[in-house]
Amino acid sequence: MKLALPCLLFLLLATTLARAADLPARTSVQVARASQGMVVSETPHASRVGRDVLTRGGNAVDAAVATAFALAVTWPEAGNIGGGGFMMVHPADGKPPVCVEYRETAPAAATETMFELGESRYNCKAVGVPGTVGGLQLAHESFGRLPWRDIVMPAVRLAESGFVVDDWLAYSTNKVLEQENVRLGDRYAELRRVYSHPQGRPWRKGDVMVLLDLARTLRTIAERGGNAFYEGRIADLLVAEMQRGNGIISKQDLEGYRAKIRKPIGGTYRGYDLYGPPPPCSGGTCVIETLNILEPFKLREHPRFGARNLHLIAEAARRAFADRAKYLGDPDFTSIPKHLTGKEYAAKLAGAIKLDEATPSEAIAPEIQLADESPDTTHFSVIDGDGMGVSNTYTLEASWGSRIVVPGAGFLLNNEMGDFNWKRGHTDRKGRIGTDANLIRPGKRMLSSQSPFIVARDGKVVLLTGSPGGRTIINTVLGNILNVLEFEMPIDKAIDTARLHHQWFPDEITFEGTKSDEHASAVKKLRDWGHTVRYRSRQGSAHSIHVDLKTSKYVGVADWRRGGFAAGHSQ
Ligand code: DON
Repeated sequence: MKLALPCLLFLLLATTLARAADLPARTSVQVARASQGMVVSETPHASRVGRDVLTRGGNAVDAAVATAFALAVTWPEAGNIGGGGFMMVHPADGKPPVCVEYRETAPAAATETMFELGESRYNCKAVGVPGTVGGLQLAHESFGRLPWRDIVMPAVRLAESGFVVDDWLAYSTNKVLEQENVRLGDRYAELRRVYSHPQGRPWRKGDVMVLLDLARTLRTIAERGGNAFYEGRIADLLVAEMQRGNGIISKQDLEGYRAKIRKPIGGTYRGYDLYGPPPPCSGGTCVIETLNILEPFKLREHPRFGARNLHLIAEAARRAFADRAKYLGDPDFTSIPKHLTGKEYAAKLAGAIKLDEATPSEAIAPEIQLADESPDTTHFSVIDGDGMGVSNTYTLEASWGSRIVVPGAGFLLNNEMGDFNWKRGHTDRKGRIGTDANLIRPGKRMLSSQSPFIVARDGKVVLLTGSPGGRTIINTVLGNILNVLEFEMPIDKAIDTARLHHQWFPDEITFEGTKSDEHASAVKKLRDWGHTVRYRSRQGSAHSIHVDLKTSKYVGVADWRRGGFAAGHSQ
């Protein structure tokens, strides 16, 4: 009897901790249909903020900026103001699509050899100069309709008054707080202070999270404009944290940060126009190069998940990823060949693919192998009643970035410096590469795999898609585009269905296949043809919008793999 109470308490604690570590289960996509606008993002709070901006007369860029700020509050593992990303905009007035590029930048004191291979990325040195606030400001200045203050304030209110935590946020926050370095390290004290449950227990669905320092920072940005992030109190607090933690970002780095408008990488596929982010992002180039290689193979005449099609997709991706490693980096520092996204070059690559034999990755470019990346970033898609579309992916790099919260300012810092190649000439089987194109230089942007995409026909948006997932992003987006344009799947099925990934090195296919006979026999054949195939349970989180050009109706789909919510606007 004496033992009963302690045993019960132990059991209760064990169950609570176990529950905290369970990934929430959702097995189907969530779909919304509307005629006047749609926002699909990782949190219901952020999607509703964006949708409300549309109902108040804001356009898709206003809604995207509001959604991005709201995600910085309600999805802290990847939504951010301390990171960077890429926003693809397709205007509704016939003007050409653009990419608002707000990738983080190496500080002026960065050096090629500043990282030791294998060292931790969860520190101040790993932080790139953040681009998100500058990018959102540039997007708004270029396209916005509503006053800046009005689109930042919803995020301030969420942070100040608090918002209801769902299973996904509870899981994510509990998980980061359970990490050994976060539990013990001094430099994560601010993360623990800001994000621990006030009663010291794990977060649960239905709790309310209040983020007062972040609210104050966002209010300053709302009232004084995006520049307030790069100068004054917020910049002082960021630089003070750098000085405490041996980081190298200076006030001059912050004042000098500029987001850029860049011309997208363009391509065509079966009569559709495609627009993806250009370098310093690899997403646009890799997705379009892969599609170009696949176009002549007439995939639709064969089963979607038959061995032939899976093999061809993996072989095409393998070749595009090899070019990624060889050539891609910040175009302001690296000269990038123009032929990579041309149809002629793709035909040459396609000609070398054997129909029943895997090409070893070494045979394509023996000297290089790619580094591992962690799976955290977030994508959202927005369309307004005029047909203006936004496809935005942004990130802190790892889940919860560097895990460093700027004391007093309440926001997380990225660890994007890890996306540079760390050591010239060093390539290894663990996945480092040492090509020159993506070596660290002061003021240079690190190569990204983010792939916010826009598909259009006759100047009208047809599909907005993208995903988190490091290098798997490229294959997730490729698969989504193939599912819609090649296999003519409805968008909910296109997002729901199994995903495949090949990234040249490691030389293997990862596949979300099921135990179905179709998948199992395809995998067996792929192995017979020389592929290594590994199953994985989830790849990405692709919150997408499809437009039916006949009816002009919008279908928003929130992926099942992580959560997310589609919020439609109809009158
Ligand atoms: O920009 C990139 O390619 C990476 N930093 C993205 C990391 C990522 O997607 C992790 N996501 N889930």
